[in-house]
Amino acid sequence: MNYVLFRRDSHCAEPVFHWGVLFGEVAEVFDKMSTVGKIITCKAAVCQKYGEPLVIEEIQVAPPKSGEVRIKVISCGVCHSDCNYASGSLGDISGQLPIILGHEVSGVVESCGEGVTEVQEGDHVILTAIAQCRNCKVCNGTGNFNCRNAKEVNVPSKGNLLDGSTRFSSGGTDLHHFMGVSGYTEYTVSPKFMVTKVPHELPLEKVCIFGCCIMTGYFSAVHKAAVTSGSTCAVFGLGGIGLAAVMGCRNNGANRIIAVDTNPDKFPIAKSLGATDYLNPNEYDRPIEDVIVEMTDGGCEFTFECVGSRKVIESAFRSSDPSVGVTMIVGVPPQDDNKIEICTMDMLGGRVLMSAILGGYKVHDGIKRLSQEYVAGIIDIDPFITGHMPLEKINDAFKRLVEGKCIRTVIDIGRY
Ligand SMILES: NC(=O)c1ccc[n+]([C@@H]2O[C@H](COP(=O)([O-])OP(=O)(O)OC[C@H]3O[C@@H](n4cnc5c(N)ncnc54)[C@H](O)[C@@H]3O)[C@@H](O)[C@H]2O)c1
Ligand SMILES: [Zn+2]
Ligand SMILES: [Zn+2]
Repeated sequence: MNYVLFRRDSHCAEPVFHWGVLFGEVAEVFDKMSTVGKIITCKAAVCQKYGEPLVIEEIQVAPPKSGEVRIKVISCGVCHSDCNYASGSLGDISGQLPIILGHEVSGVVESCGEGVTEVQEGDHVILTAIAQCRNCKVCNGTGNFNCRNAKEVNVPSKGNLLDGSTRFSSGGTDLHHFMGVSGYTEYTVSPKFMVTKVPHELPLEKVCIFGCCIMTGYFSAVHKAAVTSGSTCAVFGLGGIGLAAVMGCRNNGANRIIAVDTNPDKFPIAKSLGATDYLNPNEYDRPIEDVIVEMTDGGCEFTFECVGSRKVIESAFRSSDPSVGVTMIVGVPPQDDNKIEICTMDMLGGRVLMSAILGGYKVHDGIKRLSQEYVAGIIDIDPFITGHMPLEKINDAFKRLVEGKCIRTVIDIGRY
């Protein structure tokens, strides 16, 4: 009898061994290789204390329970929300310590719990920190979403999966999940509602950033604010989120896209994604909103706050047109300074102020759309990925983001 074994841990799908061996020996080989149903011991970066570096530890990952999927992580992007959580500035809004952060995750399904039919072993997937069960009032509705069947893992969450427990442990101590999708680990477990299958042709080491960066910024512009053709937009903050918003404004046909950042190193990338004007607030001795109102004859139709600052939210609002302006709050300010001050009189003309997680797009549909647009060349993600690092360098990757030295660093964790 001839058996062909495929090396799973490889980018190539070429057969690497051709063995004519007895059935018993093959079964034994497969049994040793298979991790299905077993606890997996692997490496992860754990946030043990706020304000301290993440710690690389050996952890145990339990098999998926009913409705869950265990995933071999391939790559995970670093988002400012990870850094903010690790610093303690978000409090315990999205979990509790000790916790495994990382929420821009791509991977390969290792095994599925009972009742999972949407994905199967070997599927390539992207995880999203918001769920879509496709079967509740919210998931089937047209508005913003906060899946009723997954509210335990949607923000705010307690750092557990839907049954209130965690699949991660280290030396007998439970470790928590970050918004249901921890990615700084070689293996993770997520509710099936947060796992979307993607075509094998997509490069997992890049498209992991669909999971938050691109979903959030791009759909904020294209979908939630619904930028109109010929409009004038301003995007405050040109990190991964703001740059994806710039790309969304461009793709919806905006005529003018004003890119605002205190770090001018971000302007060339903004230009490559469609920005037409660049403003550094530090170069003006008057509020930047006054400059924008002047240069746009009364204000922009669309403004996006992608910094995470109360003051910048107020500026973005004041930069919008008093009658038709839409301002979208995308950034997440620190817990101790997140009350905005906006005069209601300034809204009477008809201005709109809105916000959303992940651009307000339903996640499975959103990942599917991004995959199609990526293959069709409608969106480009290469400019966003300014570096790759191994898991051991995770603290350096955080530092680079906080210091404004990169857009997205992708942490390469596994191979496929
Ligand atoms: N709503 C959501 O679903 C969602 C999802 C992901 C991230 N976020 C939030 O979005 C924000 C941005 O995340 P990111 O990963 O792009 O961060 P980032 O650090 O890469 O980008 C922030 C940018 O803002 C710029 N900036 C700082 N102060 C400024 C100011 N006063 N005016 C103009 N620009 C200024 C920085 O120079 C930097 O380029 C964070 O608050 C993050 O928590 C929200
Ligand atoms: Zn994020
Ligand atoms: Zn639902």
